Amino acid sequence: MKVKERDIIEENIKNLNEFLSDLEVMAIKLQNYHWNVQGKEFFVLHEKLEEYYDEIRDQLDEIAEHILAKGYEPFGTMKDFMENSKIQEAKNEKIGRQEIYSSVSQDFQTLQQKVMQIKQEAEKQSDYETSSLMDDYLRNYAKKLWMLNESMKG
Ligand SMILES: [Fe+2]
Repeated sequence: MKVKERDIIEENIKNLNEFLSDLEVMAIKLQNYHWNVQGKEFFVLHEKLEEYYDEIRDQLDEIAEHILAKGYEPFGTMKDFMENSKIQEAKNEKIGRQEIYSSVSQDFQTLQQKVMQIKQEAEKQSDYETSSLMDDYLRNYAKKLWMLNESMKG
């Protein structure tokens, strides 16, 4: 493989590892909210946040294994995840539903933007495996954002 081609592929892997880092921090953050949620709609949110972090954990496993299948190394330490995530950790304190809805909604937008970036760059390199993998994520996040947006109205 030519040096230039390898550099381009490594840029795609870097994007995937950054996405993996976002997902790792997102999973911890959702679990934090699952523990710290209080007030109105406690039962609904406590359940829903668990569903979300279970799903995010499946996604991060899928992304890490996708990186491995391409012959590269996924990040595997908290240090790397923290240094490469765009998602900010939540404080360990009680939190109400409106703050959770708006924070989680912002974070899913961050994930959605990252997925779009990965898809666009993968397409340029004819990396259709990565590109098509991203389609599920785009649908998933768009649906979550719609539902969160509806939930914030009440
Ligand atoms: Fe629990």
